[in-house]
Amino acid sequence: MKIVKSIKEMQKISTALKRKGKIIGFVPTMGYLHQGHLSLIKLAKKKSDVVVVSIFVNPLQFGPKEDFKRYPRDLKRDTSLARQAGCNILFVPSQRQMYPERYTSYVNVEKLSDTLEGKFRTGHFKGVATVVAKLFNIVQPDLAFFGQKDAQQVVIIQKMVQDLNFNLKIIVGSTIRDPSGLALSSRNSYLAEDERKTASVLFQSLLKAKSIIEQGERNSSKVIHEMEKMILSQPKTIIDYIGITDSQTLEPLEKISGEVLITMAVYVGSTRLIDNLKIKVK
Ligand code: PAJ
Repeated sequence: MKIVKSIKEMQKISTALKRKGKIIGFVPTMGYLHQGHLSLIKLAKKKSDVVVVSIFVNPLQFGPKEDFKRYPRDLKRDTSLARQAGCNILFVPSQRQMYPERYTSYVNVEKLSDTLEGKFRTGHFKGVATVVAKLFNIVQPDLAFFGQKDAQQVVIIQKMVQDLNFNLKIIVGSTIRDPSGLALSSRNSYLAEDERKTASVLFQSLLKAKSIIEQGERNSSKVIHEMEKMILSQPKTIIDYIGITDSQTLEPLEKISGEVLITMAVYVGSTRLIDNLKIKVK
């Protein structure tokens, strides 16, 4: 596995690979890799000739009061995990290269970025779309892999690819969970032991919603109310939002029908966790 730190070198390598007709599979990450990331790398390995993984903790997608400074980082461990999972090129650009002084260009996917997570994390998706657009231009992938764990991010990146004519295909990997149902996340490392137990209530509440809907409930408010009750019965939980929306437009649905996305953000202690489930209703 090659480690590339320079943007220019990465672009040169990708251009040469493309000229040879190689299929480049790309997995963008912020590092502190876990099985969720590794499942995307393994999927990329299956579908591409060369797998590029990026590690860049993108300051642009963190709000001023968020955890950019204390976001977990361990490049040594990440390097070995990425190699084992089948990564061929690990791209690790510096902040100074990505955002030099007087940097002024941004990508904003309107509307989709302002709802759900976007309401609570102003500017977050502008930061995500901008860095992903830059990474696409640098790595020039044929296939780019994202996790369903960040459902709104997937919808926004797909829209950006369509709107800005990026010549690549987005492939979505399913959410990897620990045995309790907790979706893996680099931020789970913030959780104390008792909080980790509590945190499984996010997925439990999604399963409860699924079961209520399968039993015939179509009123979103009622489903959300049941989820809230379940989550708030656990200690140290605060709900930012629970949304039942159309899975593509992310518009809220009063009546559940078609393919719906149930998304949520919940604090367990001081750690903010997100999770979601897609449900198809006839
Ligand atoms: P990060 O949180 O490091 O996640 C990198 C990729 O791994 C994302 O596509 C995310 O959805 C996926 N992922 C995270 N946890 C997962 C899980 N439990 N199961 C499956 N996939 C999972 O998402 C970002 O970084 C950034 O916003 C990024 C796209 C890199 C832009 O900075």
